[in-house]
Amino acid sequence: MFQLIIIVVLTIVSCTTGENPAFQVTLNNKGLQYGKHVAAGWIQDRLGLITLPDISGEALLVHYTLSGIKITKCDFPEPSVEFYQNVTGLKSSITGLSIAVNGSWATHLGVIHDGGTFDLAVFNVGVTSVVKLGKDSNGHLSVTNVNCDAKVGDVQMNFYGGQSWIFKPFLKYYKGHVLAAIQANICPNVEDFIVKVESHLQALNVSIIVDSFLSLDLNLTSSPVIDSTSLNLPLKGQFYSIKTHKEPPFVAQPFTMPKQTDYMLSIGLSDFTANSASYAYYSDGQLMMYIDDKMIPPASPVHLNTSSMGPYIPQLPQMFPNLLMKLLVYARNCPMFSFQPGAVKLGLPLAIKAFAIQPNTSLTPLFKLHVVRVFSPKCFFTFVPYKKSIKAHAVFTQADNYSSRCLGKINSGRRMDFNFITAVKI
Ligand SMILES: *[C@@H]1O[C@H](CO)[C@@H](O)[C@H](O)[C@H]1NC(C)=O
Ligand SMILES: *[C@@H]1O[C@H](CO)[C@@H](O)[C@H](O)[C@H]1NC(C)=O
Ligand SMILES: *[C@@H]1O[C@H](CO)[C@@H](O)[C@H](O)[C@H]1NC(C)=O
Ligand SMILES: *[C@@H]1O[C@H](CO)[C@@H](O)[C@H](O)[C@H]1NC(C)=O
Ligand SMILES: *[C@@H]1O[C@H](CO)[C@@H](O)[C@H](O)[C@H]1NC(C)=O
Ligand SMILES: *[C@@H]1O[C@H](CO)[C@@H](O)[C@H](O)[C@H]1NC(C)=O
Ligand SMILES: *[C@@H]1O[C@H](CO)[C@@H](O)[C@H](O)[C@H]1NC(C)=O
Repeated sequence: MFQLIIIVVLTIVSCTTGENPAFQVTLNNKGLQYGKHVAAGWIQDRLGLITLPDISGEALLVHYTLSGIKITKCDFPEPSVEFYQNVTGLKSSITGLSIAVNGSWATHLGVIHDGGTFDLAVFNVGVTSVVKLGKDSNGHLSVTNVNCDAKVGDVQMNFYGGQSWIFKPFLKYYKGHVLAAIQANICPNVEDFIVKVESHLQALNVSIIVDSFLSLDLNLTSSPVIDSTSLNLPLKGQFYSIKTHKEPPFVAQPFTMPKQTDYMLSIGLSDFTANSASYAYYSDGQLMMYIDDKMIPPASPVHLNTSSMGPYIPQLPQMFPNLLMKLLVYARNCPMFSFQPGAVKLGLPLAIKAFAIQPNTSLTPLFKLHVVRVFSPKCFFTFVPYKKSIKAHAVFTQADNYSSRCLGKINSGRRMDFNFITAVKI
């Protein structure tokens, strides 16, 4: 049995031009074959439930109708499907398909009506279908029929009931008719199916609601690219704030996905996608949170009050004795991701505003703290005097992985956790 193997690649951007995809999905041949295998099993399981369209026609002046046709038995060989570069599409074919059906028959010749049941076996059906994949004006994937070819090898029929013996002698004429009718029906049905798939694709919303703040545009930026081993979908991959829907002040850069034919599906993500999410949160005012003393464990030696800050900023307890404090942690600018070989870096220009909570609950600003650099391995903090009320300068060097801890906090509060997985086996 196949295993579905997905690779997510963080792609590193090269140079710049206009509208580029920030998100690419590549279906490799391994994935196409897996999809076909699953689809074939699904079809086979459901064939028994299908009622086929009625077949009617006229042979030797007798009008006949075969109705309520149900599949009773089916030999469904594994179809083949391949990427078809010639039309930027897919070519699929099945050969040696055999189906047994039964149903009701009815004939009338003028006023003479007759009817009964029948069974019918269709042998050696072969169907080849070529579809073209493209992009419509709204960036939906589109699928159109290019070519369909169907052949029916042989048909065997038995009629029961009615005065069917009257028609027995003509059976060989019906056989040819029915065979031709079935053969002529296959491609229009395939084409109808493709039209249905196309209308489903048209109805898909290429803008997905991610959570209460974010939507994600996943429309195609250009037509799918097909070669003999893969199908690549270049997608916009841009997050927007649902509230502001503001365009960020940066654009997607082009990138190429490395070929990963061992995987069924490759998903390439450029830092633009991550940064557009970051910008959406930032422009929506989501990247801020208050921290107060209630959020600090009671057992902690340091508390968010002015006396507790005395050892670091001696002026504080003198100017504002015995007051609880509150911190506002916020992003000064849009946090930017940068994907680098083997690493994801996040520049998080954080600032912290500290306030004293007056007994009447009004807030008095104390100082502002700029987190100058957040990248691992070190985290530097500088005090910036706030409204000249406190003259304090200090530089703290924090533990090596402090940055990931400060991000971790913001993540849990603001749902900004991006998990980059390099390979998933399902
Ligand atoms: C693709 O098209 C070229 C010319 O247009 C033709 O020679 C070739 O046989 C086609 N390939 C297939 C697999 O049909
Ligand atoms: C078709 O075959 C199924 C079972 O093989 C049977 O239950 C059903 O009655 C048959 N229908 C007709 C119209 O003969
Ligand atoms: C598609 O989703 C967007 C939000 O992302 C929504 O505003 C729009 O109404 C949706 N369109 C359709 C046709 O459902
Ligand atoms: C993607 O869809 C959005 C909204 O549906 C539209 O504004 C934008 O122009 C589309 N982009 C492309 C590349 O089609
Ligand atoms: C301030 O914090 C210290 C612990 O650091 C604690 O002993 C003291 O009671 C706190 N004062 C106020 C006013 O909460
Ligand atoms: C609250 O108290 C502070 C300091 O005592 C004072 O400056 C401020 O005006 C008071 N605010 C209100 C709304 O009473
Ligand atoms: C810091 O990193 C080390 C090694 O990666 C890890 O064992 C430790 O738990 C981390 N500490 C914190 C506070 O995240």
